[in-house]
Amino acid sequence: MSDRQTLASWKKLQQLAQEKKSQHMNTFFANDVKRFEKFSIELPNMLLDYSKNLIDSETLDCLLSLANETEVCDWRTKMFTGAKINKTEDRAVLHTALRRQSNDPLIVDGENVTEHVQNQLAKMEVFVDKVRQGHWLGYSGKRITDIVNIGVGGSNLGPQMVTEALKHYSDDGVNVHYVSNVDGAQIVEVLRPLDPQKVLFIVSSKTFTTTETMTNAKTAIKWLTSSSFDEKSVAKHFVAVTANKENAMGFGIEEHNIFDMWDWVGGRFSLWSAIGLAIALDLGFDKFKELLEGAYEMDQHFINAPLKDNMPAIMALISVWNTTFLGAHSQAILPYDQTLHMLSAYLQQAEMESNGKSVTWDGDEINYATVPSIWGELGINGQHAFYQYLHQSNNVVPADFIGSVESVTPVQGHHETLMANFFAQTQALMVGVDEQQVRADLKAKGRTPDYINKVSPHKVHKGNRPTNTILLKRIDPKTLGSLIAAYEHKIFVQGIILQICSFDQWGVELGKGLAAEIQEELSTNSISEKHDCSTASLMKFYQKAK
Ligand code: F6P
Repeated sequence: MSDRQTLASWKKLQQLAQEKKSQHMNTFFANDVKRFEKFSIELPNMLLDYSKNLIDSETLDCLLSLANETEVCDWRTKMFTGAKINKTEDRAVLHTALRRQSNDPLIVDGENVTEHVQNQLAKMEVFVDKVRQGHWLGYSGKRITDIVNIGVGGSNLGPQMVTEALKHYSDDGVNVHYVSNVDGAQIVEVLRPLDPQKVLFIVSSKTFTTTETMTNAKTAIKWLTSSSFDEKSVAKHFVAVTANKENAMGFGIEEHNIFDMWDWVGGRFSLWSAIGLAIALDLGFDKFKELLEGAYEMDQHFINAPLKDNMPAIMALISVWNTTFLGAHSQAILPYDQTLHMLSAYLQQAEMESNGKSVTWDGDEINYATVPSIWGELGINGQHAFYQYLHQSNNVVPADFIGSVESVTPVQGHHETLMANFFAQTQALMVGVDEQQVRADLKAKGRTPDYINKVSPHKVHKGNRPTNTILLKRIDPKTLGSLIAAYEHKIFVQGIILQICSFDQWGVELGKGLAAEIQEELSTNSISEKHDCSTASLMKFYQKAK
C-alpha cells in the first residue's frame, strides 16, 4: 500500500471531498467576489483560471500541504539536477537539460550533459541550414523539398503536434510529413506524390528497435532504391535520431547522419532533442530555439514560483483533487485554437503513459485512482458532437479549455464567435440551469403548461462541472514551448504526489512481446496452442479468410 494515504493532508482531503461533493460552485462564486483573483495565475504569455473547480481556500491549502508533505520541491530539484528519479530504470530525467539556457556543466554518470546537448544542437543547426538552403543534395543532385519523419509514440506525436500547431510560421523551405502507423496505407499515401530524388527521411527512434518504425523505414529504403538503383543513395536520403547508434548504423545509416538521444530523455518528453529535427527543418532553427526558450521560461517559473502561484503545480493538484479525491475517471482536453488540434493526442501519451500505473515506485499496490483517461478534440467540433455528455451525463468530466487571445490567422468575425463559445461553455458547465429557471424561460416564451411539464426535466443542466481555462496570448513557438512544458511539469508533480514512477512504461511491453510471437506464428502458419481460444480462433479465422 502507498504510504501517501497515511499523510495528514491526504486524510483531510478525503474528508473535504465528501463535504464538497454535496456543494455547488455557484455558491462558492456567490460567496466570494474575489474567487477569480484567488484561483488564477497570470504569466507573461498565458493565464490559468482554475476557479471553476470544486475547491475553496481550505481545499487549496490542504492540496498545497499535500505537495509539501510529499516533498514535491525536493523532487523537483532532484529532477533538474540529474538525480536518478526514474527509479525502475535507474535513469536521470533531464528533458529540461535540452532547453537549458546555460553553459554550466550538468554531470550525470561522469558525463557533461550540457556539452552533449550543445553539440547536438550545433549539429542540428548546421544540418537544418544545409537542407533548407538547398546545399544538401539528393542522389541525383537535386535539392531536398520534402522531409518524411518515420517514428511512433514520442518519436512522432510531439514533433507532429508542434508542426501542426506552428504551421503559420512555416515557410516554403521544405514540406514535412509524418509516418507513424505500420498500416501500409499511411506510408503509401504519404510517398505517393513525392519524388524520391528530393525526399529526406528522418528515422526517429530512441531504441531503434521499434517494429513499426523499422518496418516503415525498410519500406522507405526500398522505395528510394527502386528509384536510385543504388544502395549508396541511402546516405544522401536518410538520417536517424537515436540512442542506439549501433542499430542505426547496422540499418545502413551513415554515422555522421545520426543524431544522438540519451537514456535520460524519455520518448514522450523528447521533442526538444533532435527528435524535434522535423520541426526545425520546417520552421528554421531560430524558431526551434524559440520553442526551447519558451519551455525554459516555464522551467524557470516551475522552479522559482511558490507552489501556490505555480501553474504546473496547481494544474497537478487540481487534477489529483478531481481524479483521486472526487473520483473523476476522465479528463477532456478542449482546445479552441485550430492549431492545437493534436494536443489531446499528444497529452494522451504524455499523461497516460507516464502516470497510468497501479503500483508505487517501490512496487507496492496503489488502491487510489491515478491519472484519468485523457481524451479530447477541438472544442468547437466537440460542442456539436460530445458536449451533450459533458453537460448532462451522470459522469463528470473535468476539462481543460485552451484558447488564444489573438488568432494567428485572423478572418473577420471568426475569432469573436470562437471565443464567445469558449467563454460560454465553461460558464454553462459550471453554472448550469435549474428547473425553476427552465420553467420560467419556457413560460416566457409562451409555451403551454403541458409542454413545460414534458420538456423541463430534459432542459435542466446541473452544472458544477469543473474546468480549467488556459488563455494564451497567441500561438507562437515560445508560447507553445511554455504550454507543453507546463503540462510536462504537471505530469511530474502528479507522479510525485501519487508516488508513481512517471518515466517508465513497462505496460507497453507485454503486448509488444506477444505481437512479435504472433507475427512469427502467422508467417509460418503455425498457431500455437498456448493462446486462449478467442485469440487462437481469431488468428485461424484470419489465416483462412486471407
Ligand atoms: O511502446 C511505447 C514506446 O516505447 C514509447 O514510450 C515511445 O515513445 C515509443 O514507443 C517509440 O519508441 P522509440 O522511439 O524507441 O521507437
